[in-house]
Amino acid sequence: MKFPDNFLIGGAIAANQVEGAYNEGGRGLSTIDMYKMEESGGHFELTIDEINDALKGDDYNYPKRRGIDFYHRYIEDLDLFEEMGFKILRLSIAWTRIYPNGDDCKPNQEGIDFYHNLFDEMLKRNIQPMVTICHFDTPLHLTLECNGWQSRKTLDCFNKYVETILDEYHDKVKYWLTFNELDAAIISPYLCSGILKEKTENIEFAKYQGLHHQLLGCAYASKYMHENYPDLKLGCMMTKNLKYAKTCKPEDNLTCLKETLESYTVNDVQVFGEYPYTIKKLWKKIGFNLKTEKNDLKILRENTVDFVSFSYYASLVTSYEKEDNLTNANLLVGEKNPYLETTEWGWQIDSIGLRYSLNQLYDRYRVPIFVAENGLGAVDNFENKKVHDQYRINYIKEHLKQLLLAIDDGVECFGYTYWGCIDCIAASTSQMKKRYGFIYVDQDDDGKGTLNRYRKDSFYWYQRVINSNGEYLDE
Ligand code: BG6
Repeated sequence: MKFPDNFLIGGAIAANQVEGAYNEGGRGLSTIDMYKMEESGGHFELTIDEINDALKGDDYNYPKRRGIDFYHRYIEDLDLFEEMGFKILRLSIAWTRIYPNGDDCKPNQEGIDFYHNLFDEMLKRNIQPMVTICHFDTPLHLTLECNGWQSRKTLDCFNKYVETILDEYHDKVKYWLTFNELDAAIISPYLCSGILKEKTENIEFAKYQGLHHQLLGCAYASKYMHENYPDLKLGCMMTKNLKYAKTCKPEDNLTCLKETLESYTVNDVQVFGEYPYTIKKLWKKIGFNLKTEKNDLKILRENTVDFVSFSYYASLVTSYEKEDNLTNANLLVGEKNPYLETTEWGWQIDSIGLRYSLNQLYDRYRVPIFVAENGLGAVDNFENKKVHDQYRINYIKEHLKQLLLAIDDGVECFGYTYWGCIDCIAASTSQMKKRYGFIYVDQDDDGKGTLNRYRKDSFYWYQRVINSNGEYLDE
């Protein structure tokens, strides 16, 4: 088994989980800086009181503010990625490093320079950047002033931000993604859209209106990019919530089909340029009327993406008569699958599900596909400066094998970025002990440690996989 020619293999991280230095270099506050560490995770919807507490709060309780200090240590980290042979690194730009409040007249030069330097250092090492324009981080000022994406003002600010970064980095970054897991805005309006429930009359209506503005932002990014920089490629990024029907009962399969179709809504708009019938039906049922301006639907129709990308960690089971035996898969909750093993955080490991998902998405969209996230979060045992993480190796090995089988099925998959290639702050819990990396970062949940980096066993294994162009997977 071998990766196809020019297959882009590497790792993925996000600004808010690695950079730290949240109040340096002119960076403004973002919605994501307001999250505390939560053992159980999933507390994504904040209240105004929680934000006020966070604004007064001690940084110590807010781990995303410190990240893993990538802001100061990126040279060392890029050296390690180069040593593994990364062809690509997916990362995000922190919107508030470029526009600290979101609505500033001029961009912040220190932030612009930071990413120029970062991309230059990547290119020197033959690592292509793939940039997520917004990874869960709306400028906090826009949330407090106009309730984030609920307002069209945020769309105008975003469009300006997009123009700025494309003008700055178009000759350094070829691959771009608009929003990370934008479909999750339906589940978590604060996390994805900076919308506070207390500032709305009806959170259901506000979140769909906000999502519409975000989709217009995606379409604008596509328009601006394709008109000005036609060699660049734009993708959308979805959470692949793979679901299996619990039994062969038609009712269970129908439920599974419906939930699957609903999960495509946001991607459908970005690939096909229009809202699917399923969401229109749902809006009618809840009495929601989407507010559009004159050219909105035309803009969506005419400005679509070049490729589809997704995160895939686990699968779930669903049924007509919902059961209590529940577990998590990324941002979702569903029934447990008795045939699968479960991680310490309840996510069920299903490598075949990756092949299934790739086929399902390619069949629907017929555009090139990129696996933007996949990985195992686990507690590592760090002893004598080593981590023997055979469990992580097994996880990736099985998933990459299934990815190659999907390519063999005919799916046009052009790359894979392993999530959290260096240990970072978890998105759901803000813990440090939920580690994904090939590189161990000496920092605990309390932010204590030297921040030194150490190669885990998986580091050497992934290096061999990349160097052998995938052939080592069979050994
Ligand atoms: C994805 C996010 O949903 O899952 C990442 O895009 C996140 O930001 C990843 O880190 C894994 O989730 P967690 O909560 O284990 O960090």
